[in-house]
Amino acid sequence: MQSLITLLALPASTLAGSVLWSGISDSSLTVDDIDKWSWSNQVGAWQWYIHGSGETSEYLGISSEFKNPAAADAQGLRITIDGTSFWNGQTMERSELIPQTKVNLGSGHLYYHFSLSTKETNPPNPSFEHQIAFFESHFTELKYGASGASDNTLSWNADGKSHWSVQLEAGNWYNFAYDIDFDSKNVGLWASNGSEPLTQVVAPVSASTSSNSADWHVGQLRLPGSKSDDAAEDWFWSGVYVEEGPITTEIGSRSSGSSSGSSSSISASSAATSATASAPSTVQSVAPTESTRATTTSADPATAATQSPVSTTVSSSMAASPSTAAPTKSTEVATPTSSSAAAFASPTSAAEFLTDIRALLNVLLSRSGSGSVHARDFTRYL
Ligand SMILES: *[C@@H]1O[C@H](CO)[C@@H](O)[C@H](O)[C@H]1NC(C)=O
Repeated sequence: MQSLITLLALPASTLAGSVLWSGISDSSLTVDDIDKWSWSNQVGAWQWYIHGSGETSEYLGISSEFKNPAAADAQGLRITIDGTSFWNGQTMERSELIPQTKVNLGSGHLYYHFSLSTKETNPPNPSFEHQIAFFESHFTELKYGASGASDNTLSWNADGKSHWSVQLEAGNWYNFAYDIDFDSKNVGLWASNGSEPLTQVVAPVSASTSSNSADWHVGQLRLPGSKSDDAAEDWFWSGVYVEEGPITTEIGSRSSGSSSGSSSSISASSAATSATASAPSTVQSVAPTESTRATTTSADPATAATQSPVSTTVSSSMAASPSTAAPTKSTEVATPTSSSAAAFASPTSAAEFLTDIRALLNVLLSRSGSGSVHARDFTRYL
């Protein structure tokens, strides 16, 4: 029964692209863990070197209260700048995390996901220009505020030109995915509010896309303004990960795959929604041999990442846990297969279990007309 259940669980999680890197926090991550990172000790999911001279806890906080409630993160991040946030003698205030990974995040067609929020406490000052979630070359980024003129606009830019904007509202969660085709040199934007699934808000435009895989700045840089202001500014982040297409539009369907245990416990109903939202190109990977391979190789994020596009979300949810890539964390990783089995292994009633199976099958059958999904491959196991 267990293997049947595992097979059923797999198609649900294979419908979106592979996660190449994830900064989604499990419940045990602490600021001290991130603070352990250095050039000679490159542990965890994040490089942490762009910040002021204060204690790390002045600039970073980690708490379940800092995440989008709809997100799968056990905890979100507070990233703060204040009057001490001058890095390396610069005049800009900066607190920025950068993905720590050996995976190539700068080729092919990738989606860079993140959710962002502010509060009424320590709000950003709209009289300063902020650059947020930017790449070194600034081919894509968010901007907030304007030097000299109070401007509450959060705007999305490609090659320095704004293509979409919204008025920043404290307490709202803004979900984004940069849709970057490094090969054809295009970038587009997907966005949503709160728990809504992402929708494309800007079709890809031409831009000078490039990344050395260690230059996506998750955090904020504030340019000097016409006046000075030392008040702390908090920005809250969650759901930060990079995936290969097809895009995952659901908020919260990705998680760290570690002790929080939510990674593989995708319910049939959420599977159904993510299925409708994503292209079917990876569905063939649910063949049992693939699932086995994905499971066995998934312990090594680098390996898992090179398997794309065949590698399943099972492997990618492991690749998605570089917080777990740190040697000290690796023991917390539940094997994906067993955790997904566990999620299905104890249905509260047989009827409920059957409902789950039906929901999955309906998704698969409804897609069978579209070409690459073969529902018969699944019915065989029933
Ligand atoms: C989010 O809500 C704001 C209004 O608060 C709206 O202007 C904006 O278009 C919404 N964003 C998306 C992506 O739907």
